[in-house]
Amino acid sequence: GKYKVVVTGRIMPAGLAMLKEHCEIYQWEQTARPRVADLSEWLREAEGLFVSTNIPVNEELLAVAPRLKVIAQPAVGYDSVDIPACTNRKIPFGNTPGVLVETTAELAFGLLLTAARRIHEGWDWVRAGKWQPGVLMPFGVDLYGKTLGIVGMGAIGSAVARRAQASGMKVIYSNRKPRPDQDALKAEYRLFDELLAEADFIVVLTPLTAESRGMFGEKEFAKMKPTAYFINAARGAVVDTQALYKALAEKQIAYAALDVTDPEPLPADHPLLTLSNILVVPHIGSATTETRNKMAMLAAENLLLGLAGKPLVTCVNQEVNYR
Ligand code: GLV
Ligand code: GLV
Repeated sequence: GKYKVVVTGRIMPAGLAMLKEHCEIYQWEQTARPRVADLSEWLREAEGLFVSTNIPVNEELLAVAPRLKVIAQPAVGYDSVDIPACTNRKIPFGNTPGVLVETTAELAFGLLLTAARRIHEGWDWVRAGKWQPGVLMPFGVDLYGKTLGIVGMGAIGSAVARRAQASGMKVIYSNRKPRPDQDALKAEYRLFDELLAEADFIVVLTPLTAESRGMFGEKEFAKMKPTAYFINAARGAVVDTQALYKALAEKQIAYAALDVTDPEPLPADHPLLTLSNILVVPHIGSATTETRNKMAMLAAENLLLGLAGKPLVTCVNQEVNYR
């Protein structure tokens, strides 16, 4: 028979087609996020879970899914997943690193460039009929010759560094520790506080963990230059939203550009959206057709491998991966 698989949200057609060949699919199709109770009937029988980041994978969920052999997620960040709980139950969890690196770097660098040169404000200006002789919109700032500070120098950070270097920027980074390949990266390691004080642009790409939660608060914004641009393409909760609001409102820093927020989605009446020195896009770091297809296909591959008792291609908890 076919494997019973629960899909908690939308899935790109390429991934769905792969699953359909081998699985009987129970898919949550409503736009509202499901709760465990909404899925528990299906989860009781499920051997595979294809999870969007729309529901936490925690003890409560795992407790109603005793037959799970594998969990796969079409996203790289797994802060909504209790990995130790999966590991305790010997359930391998697969994410999708690698396939979204260049795409997410393009978005992060695009946010930086768009904010610096006010491209979005220019478009609003033109569309509002303000493009008239003698009327100038506020000026932006150059990237060329400036210093970019990358917080969290993983694969995506390295891809952003290459783009910045091609634009004539100096690149510094902070990480839990210096990378052994930093000469090849042509990026210099800094302690976090040093980076905050030195960077003209800060791009955040660190995963959300217990240590990184709220790592940008009042103290950190106070250490930045008043001309600093702050770009977050990681997770919203890495930032204390109230502190960011205050830093922007009081012009402690110049500008923010965010792909991710806390909360998400950001309500239309959120105070952040009343500011003039901010650009927010709705978590689209990996949102190209090509890459979303690759992510869905890699996640589907992980799921099918796990169902067959074979090693997942990209497994977070290797100690319980099949072999
Ligand atoms: C998106 O945010 C991801 O983690 O892939
Ligand atoms: C993933 O590839 C990352 O840089 O975290």
